[in-house]
Amino acid sequence: MASKSRDYAAKANPRNGRCRLISGNWKMNLNHLEAISLVQKLHYSFRESDYHFAEISVHPPFTSLRSIQLLLETDRVPISLGAQDCYFESSGAYTGEISASMLGKLGVRYVIVGHSERRELFGETDEIVAKKANAVIASQMTPIVCVGESMFQREEKQTETVIKSQVEAVVSSMSSELCEELVFAYEPKWAIGSGIPAESQDAVVGANAVRAAVSKYHGEMVANKVRVQYGGSVNSANAKEFLDQAEIDGLLVGGASLTAEAFTAIVQA
Ligand code: 13P
Repeated sequence: MASKSRDYAAKANPRNGRCRLISGNWKMNLNHLEAISLVQKLHYSFRESDYHFAEISVHPPFTSLRSIQLLLETDRVPISLGAQDCYFESSGAYTGEISASMLGKLGVRYVIVGHSERRELFGETDEIVAKKANAVIASQMTPIVCVGESMFQREEKQTETVIKSQVEAVVSSMSSELCEELVFAYEPKWAIGSGIPAESQDAVVGANAVRAAVSKYHGEMVANKVRVQYGGSVNSANAKEFLDQAEIDGLLVGGASLTAEAFTAIVQA
């Protein structure tokens, strides 16, 4: 693969000084051979300007991290490596778990914590999510903290209350210095995998609720540094609308991140 060795750092959005982050959460899809092939295709399709527009991260299953790390490093591919979860303890008798420090050693930069599928299917509480976020930070990586309401909570007009308590659980006992580095992903549960994305204005409400909760503990300056992605049925037809909102700093993409065509179309939207 051709090496692109120039400076591919994402440039800050002039509207708010924050760097966009577009992430592909592959969930439990693609074996390590398919993963390598996808990353190679992505790097062929991305233009230099795409890497300037946003930092791009891919979050494969654990089994592909080492293969992709080697590919990214060997070919100097400016895509950031991400993971989908980790455990909060650093080592010990926790069969089946992976620690944050293990991920750090694999060159992982971003770790998703508190995805709604983890909260729903694996019983993760706000307290566990907060511990995981802290473990990720302690290993010099950045957590992408997922928050969002269910359809029932939305209908009961509890969206902002739910987001507030999910964010507070993570930021209330964290220093401002660490807090400003956080990335949040506002992912309404009803929009995930449903083909029904939120309206861009709903996403702005979600992002504002995240920043209001951060601001309560750390002030407005910190809240304005925190990045907030939107996730839930993002595709190439709706990506631009979300990215056009000054409050939204990127996207967390599920299904449409599994092919090079679909994910490239989102980044280039
Ligand atoms: P979809 O893009 O498939 O709706 O998934 C969103 C998501 O859960 C990303 O974390």
